[in-house]
Amino acid sequence: MVSLKGKTVFITGVTSGIGKSCTYAFAKEGANLVISARRINLVNEIADDISKKYGVNVHPIKLDVSKRDEVNKAVDSLPAEFKKIDLLINNAGLGRGLNKFYEDNPDGWEEMIDTNVKGLLYVTNAILPQMVERKSGHIINIGSIAGREAYPKGAVYCATKHAVDAITRSLRMDLVDKNIRVSTIDPGLVETGFSKVRFYGDEEKAKNAYKGLKPLTGEDIAEAVVFTATRSEHFNVAQMILFPTNQASTTIFHRED
Ligand SMILES: NC(=O)c1ccc[n+]([C@@H]2O[C@H](COP(=O)([O-])OP(=O)(O)OC[C@H]3O[C@@H](n4cnc5c(N)ncnc54)[C@H](OP(=O)(O)O)[C@@H]3O)[C@@H](O)[C@H]2O)c1
Repeated sequence: MVSLKGKTVFITGVTSGIGKSCTYAFAKEGANLVISARRINLVNEIADDISKKYGVNVHPIKLDVSKRDEVNKAVDSLPAEFKKIDLLINNAGLGRGLNKFYEDNPDGWEEMIDTNVKGLLYVTNAILPQMVERKSGHIINIGSIAGREAYPKGAVYCATKHAVDAITRSLRMDLVDKNIRVSTIDPGLVETGFSKVRFYGDEEKAKNAYKGLKPLTGEDIAEAVVFTATRSEHFNVAQMILFPTNQASTTIFHRED
């Protein structure tokens, strides 16, 4: 196991769910953090809390990953002590709607493609050159089981996560001689803010997604991300699928009444 003490980790989408859990888990390991999301008040609160609790250096930034100029500016203007990024965790993402394609709202498609695909590309593009130059670094993408199997009413979300999978695989090929690891962690059902966002704030529909089974938690995913990040340099966890025990595929669940 390799120590994360003093390493700098850049995480997107830290104000909720998996990203928030990763932030606490990496701070606990002693990593210094650049943490980002759009809701800057929440990012700042988390930054204060983890620097108090774990004594690590934290740089909070307001960042919408879907805005290329904003991403480039944010990375270019990092303070000197946070400029060298050892690990990038591309976590920011969302689902919008769960409808048959022909009944779905294309506005949600734009949001998902802009965030889950273009956002991941923009952040990676801004940070990767320094890793290539140094011949060291690690990128961990939060994909999804939806990137392995399509499911009904999820054409565009599944397409974005298939894109994350393709980008991860292709990047690994491009970086094979650069000593840079690229990994993807692909969860099934995790109880986070995801469903509430997907159903545009409808609490009832969001709760139903987790009804009758014990979903994974953000902490479960963070555990896998920390495991991936702390292997020796020669050891790349290329892909990992994480399911709750009562899930067997994107569509097969066992739910108790
Ligand atoms: N929950 C699941 O069942 C599940 C399963 C598989 C994969 N995933 C993936 O896990 C990742 C995290 O989702 P989650 O489940 O933790 O959901 P969540 O609780 O809703 O958290 C999503 C995070 O992404 C941020 N975000 C959304 N759009 C953004 C943008 N344009 N720019 C920057 N940050 C943005 C949000 O922050 P702001 O709103 O403050 O910007 C929030 O912090 C996503 O990529 C999701 O696709 C989730």
